[in-house]
Amino acid sequence: MIELAPSILSADFARLGEQVNQAIEAGATLLHLDVMDGHFVPNLTIGPPVVASVRKVTDVPLDCHLMIENPDNFIPAFIDAGADWISVHQEACVHLHRTLELIRSKGAKPGVVINPATPVHTLGEVLGMVDYVLVMSVNPGFGGQKFIPRSLDKIRKLVTMRNANGHHFRIEVDGGVGPDTIGDVVRAGAELLVAGNAVFGKGEIASNVRGLLKLAHEATLQKV
Ligand code: DX5
Ligand code: ZN
Repeated sequence: MIELAPSILSADFARLGEQVNQAIEAGATLLHLDVMDGHFVPNLTIGPPVVASVRKVTDVPLDCHLMIENPDNFIPAFIDAGADWISVHQEACVHLHRTLELIRSKGAKPGVVINPATPVHTLGEVLGMVDYVLVMSVNPGFGGQKFIPRSLDKIRKLVTMRNANGHHFRIEVDGGVGPDTIGDVVRAGAELLVAGNAVFGKGEIASNVRGLLKLAHEATLQKV
């Protein structure tokens, strides 16, 4: 099932509740919250208090993308704040298996993320224990970057691995997803579509959401 996950990174934080609800009323069914620590990525963003505030204004699942070192130290706080889905970077987790188990044991859906330079085969041992795999299609840290086309091949490889092994994870893509790229990512096999700049960057939020979802649904009809 195709789902659009607006990334609040590009929203106006002084009007966050209002903007998030405009996106949801227009058809967004998941919200993507980017958490950055200034160490794993060269930027700082939000922590559990902002997750708790967003939780108060919507019932849609909150998808927290942790771009932080030592995520185990913070996972319980994000879940207490209302995170429903939590993804962690393969590159940031020395004990990835333990971290994914921790997320599930606390009641959230675990996801694993890979940076553009990380091959999908590094995930082979954990694909059976995640609800979703997030393919970064930019180097994480900032919104509004250009989509890296090789990400499409990584999405296709994940589809092949899922079919070959009978796994059930969903495939999410994050970075540079907009009107020019959303069709390609859907045709490659992604169904959870993160978009920050393309939703909140310019124009009207509701029409941006409707436009992206229309293009994504049209692309599903073109899948071979
Ligand atoms: C980047 C973040 C993304 C970002 C996407 O590090 O993980 O979620 O907000 O922004 P756009 O859609 O503008 O590339
Ligand atoms: Zn993200």
